[in-house]
Amino acid sequence: MNASCTICVAVAASAIIAATTVAVPAIAADDPAVLRQDMMKSVGAATGMSAAMVKGEAPFDARVAHLALRVMNASANGFGALFPEGSETGAETEAKAEIWSDRAGFDAAVAKFRDDTAAVLAPPPADLDAFKAAFGQVTQNCGSCHEKYRVKK
Ligand code: HEC
Repeated sequence: MNASCTICVAVAASAIIAATTVAVPAIAADDPAVLRQDMMKSVGAATGMSAAMVKGEAPFDARVAHLALRVMNASANGFGALFPEGSETGAETEAKAEIWSDRAGFDAAVAKFRDDTAAVLAPPPADLDAFKAAFGQVTQNCGSCHEKYRVKK
């Protein structure tokens, strides 16, 4: 390959990189703030569905209860990784600065949510009374973490 063509390739490659760099911010799935909000929306939906069963507004279904707790546990597992340095702002995030200034405390809150959601799955609740107890245990985490680490709007 001659020198001028090496330059051609370099120019072409940097054009591709530039195009990619420009395109990426438009893809919401690559934004950790969007991903963590999507996770929390799933947790919110699972909680809403569960609350309806706990309050007797919907019939208890062990499979639905199992799924709701699984959604919470899966979200708890990946949640902590979605707060990298540099994601403190943007995507209208409600994440508080304390997540980054008190990372150990935040990690502990995520770990507690993960452990509580795992504990109630071993085994998954088989009846409404067991589900009520499980629901109470896992939903304590919502308020305590939001209080410290989520901006009130
Ligand atoms: C370990 C901390 C933590 C726990 C536990 C937690 N959350 Fe959150 N939640 C957050 C943070 C931080 C945000 C803000 C994320 C952002 O905007 O970047 C949030 C946002 C939300 C949102 C708004 C999502 C959106 O952007 O539309 C909902 C709904 C929500 N949480 C529900 C729940 C429920 C219900 C529970 C309990 C079952 C729960 N969360 C447990 C930290 C937590």
